[in-house]
This record gives sequence, structure tokens and C-alpha cells, in this order.
Amino acid sequence: MSTASPSSHQAAITAVGHYLPETRLTNGDLEEMVETNDEWIRTRTGIRERRILGDDGKATAFMATEAAQEALDKCGIGPEEVDLIVVATVTPDMLFPATACLVQNNLGARNAWGFDLSAACSGFIYALTTGAQFIETGQAETALVIGADKMSSIVDYTDRTTCILFGDAAGAVVLEADEEAGLQEAVHHVDGEHRDLLRMRAGGSLNPPTHETVDAHMHYLKQEGRQVFKLAVTHMADVCEEVLERNGLDADDVDYLVPHQANERIIDATAKRMGLSSDQVMLNIDRYGNTTAATIPLCLVDWEEDLERGDELIVTAFGGGLTWGAGHLTWAYDGSNGGA
Ligand code: UT7
Repeated sequence: MSTASPSSHQAAITAVGHYLPETRLTNGDLEEMVETNDEWIRTRTGIRERRILGDDGKATAFMATEAAQEALDKCGIGPEEVDLIVVATVTPDMLFPATACLVQNNLGARNAWGFDLSAACSGFIYALTTGAQFIETGQAETALVIGADKMSSIVDYTDRTTCILFGDAAGAVVLEADEEAGLQEAVHHVDGEHRDLLRMRAGGSLNPPTHETVDAHMHYLKQEGRQVFKLAVTHMADVCEEVLERNGLDADDVDYLVPHQANERIIDATAKRMGLSSDQVMLNIDRYGNTTAATIPLCLVDWEEDLERGDELIVTAFGGGLTWGAGHLTWAYDGSNGGA
């Protein structure tokens, strides 16, 4: 499905915020836990360390709230001005109430409504498109779009094929109307045929929690890495090319590719197919690993000071579902000012 802005204004990102837990889990730490080594992890994934929230009663809603509060502070918007909160996550604090309700209460956003959106690693771009629709139609003036995941809560730290990949974090953006800048177009796909390649088998209505499901490690994420890798490389590059073509852009027009951070080799392959050089690609997987719905806003935070109004960005992601997509985003503010 593709969406282009139907109205005279777009939904622009006017501030970004993030939360990273302090505790670092390095490749060296993982060497002590499973049969792996730093060199394998770095050369196969690009990851050096990830952040872990720990087990002191804090979870995804806490990180999402911190990230959202930072974004609101940067653009000077009070919580009561927020109309909509969309939280992309596959690790909600609980199945219900939605994380968005917890964040709404934590922030004191008493005029907002909101909901959670489940699209795994594509969650942030799906949520961005969703939030943008409400801004474009005038249904909301101010929306918070948040990507937050406590992946350590569903990672099996005895499975070396997955435990080296994931970390915990949250990122948030504020969306407001802008006549020129903002999300110009987005293209999204799902492919449920390949649902078994990346999934958490139990905890839902198909396999409710039992002693057996726990004993069988069914509450952990499982991935067929090699097959997901191949599909990710093809689909991410294809959808990015599609967005470039539909928007009449070529490689020289793109200031930054903002890719989901699952594997540096997938990102390199996508950039190469698009004809981009490495200085056009946002890459921070070495420091945070794969934080699922948080990777793209974390990149925006890390590059915020370099971004200027009018910069052309391609955001793209691929993940469980399968889900994938890409969007063309025109940046709305000079990042050195730290928020519009
Ligand atoms: O964000 C959501 C979407 N997810 C992705 O995009 C992830 C896509 N997949 C990947 O990034 C990669 O497939 C992985 C990083 C997960 C794995 O890399 P790979 O190059 O595809 O490795 P592989 O699964 O083909 O395994 C190669 C070898 C195997 O040994 P043999 O069979 O060749 O003897 C594995 O058993 O590496 C072994 N291996 C490891 N060795 C050391 C697997 N995990 C590890 C490990 N340390 N942690």
C-alpha cells in the first residue's frame, strides 16, 4: 500500500527524543553467556554493544514516556496539547491496557487519545504513517509517535543466534502540520506467508501461557536468521527504489537514508542498490544493536544536529510479520536548534 499526502499540508517531525538504559551488554559479556565471539558478532552484524533496561520494575512504557517527554521539552509543547499518542511496540508492558494509555497517564496528556501498533521492526514507520494521517486530515494538531521495545524481556539468552542482536530503547517524535516539509509519501507491505520466520509463539490466544509453553521457551523470540536476511536485503532495497522513483528522486537528491538497524550488511546492501555513499547513511547499530521499533528515531536523535530544514530523508524498515516499507520525509527544522 502506498500513501501520499492528500491535503495542502504534510505531517512534519518538529522534535525528537530518546531513552537509552544505562546498562551496557557488550560482545565480551555475551562471550561469557553463550558460545560466540566478538569478531563473529562484529563482522556478521556490525554490533559492539547494546543497552539493557534490567529487571527493576521498569518496562517499555517507562522508556516510551522518557523519550516522549524529551521530545515535548525540545519543542516546548505541553502534555495537554498532545492530541494523539501512537506507540509502536512488540513488547508492551502487558497485552492490555495499551502502552499508549500508560504513556498518556505518565505524561499527563489529559486531552490525548492513543493506541499501540504491532509491526515489529517496521513499527516506527507504520506508526509514522498512521500518525501523519491524523495531522494531514486535521483530526489532530499535535501527535506523538513513539517506537519503544524492551527486547531483553523476550530474548532467550541461551540462544546465540538471537541474543547477540537485540537491545532495549525508545525513541519519539512530535508531528505537526507543515506546508512543505514532512512525510511526502510512504509505501508499506505485509507478507503473512512468511510469518514463521520471525515470531514469538506463545502468550497470545493461540498458545496461552502454560507451564509447557514456558518450558518449551515459547515466550521468546525465534528467528530463521539466514532466510530473514535474504528477504530483508531484497525487500528493503526494492521498496526504497520504489519510493525514489515515485517521488522523482535519485541518489544525489537524498541527504540521508535512515534504515532500521538490524544488520550492518543489510544496510550496506540497501545503500549500495540505491547508489548512496556511506556518509548518506545513518548507522548506529554498533552502539545499540537492534532495538526493534526504536531504531529509526534513535538515528534521528543521533543525527539531529546535522539535519537542516529541507533535507530529504528516506526512512525504511523490515521486520517480523513480515512487514516492511519506506517513506520520503522532508526534514522540517534546523537540528542545531534542537526542535522546531
Ligand atoms: O530486525 C528484524 C529483521 N531481522 C533481520 O533483519 C536479521 C536478519 N538476519 C541476520 O542478520 C543474520 O542472518 C544473522 C546475524 C542473524 C546471522 O548471520 P548469518 O551470516 O546469516 O549466519 P548464519 O545464520 O548463516 O550462521 C552461520 C554460522 C552457523 O554455523 P555453521 O552452520 O556455518 O557451522 C551458525 O551456527 O554461524 C553460526 N552462528 C554463530 N557463531 C558464533 C550463529 N550465531 C552465532 C553466534 N556466534 N552468535
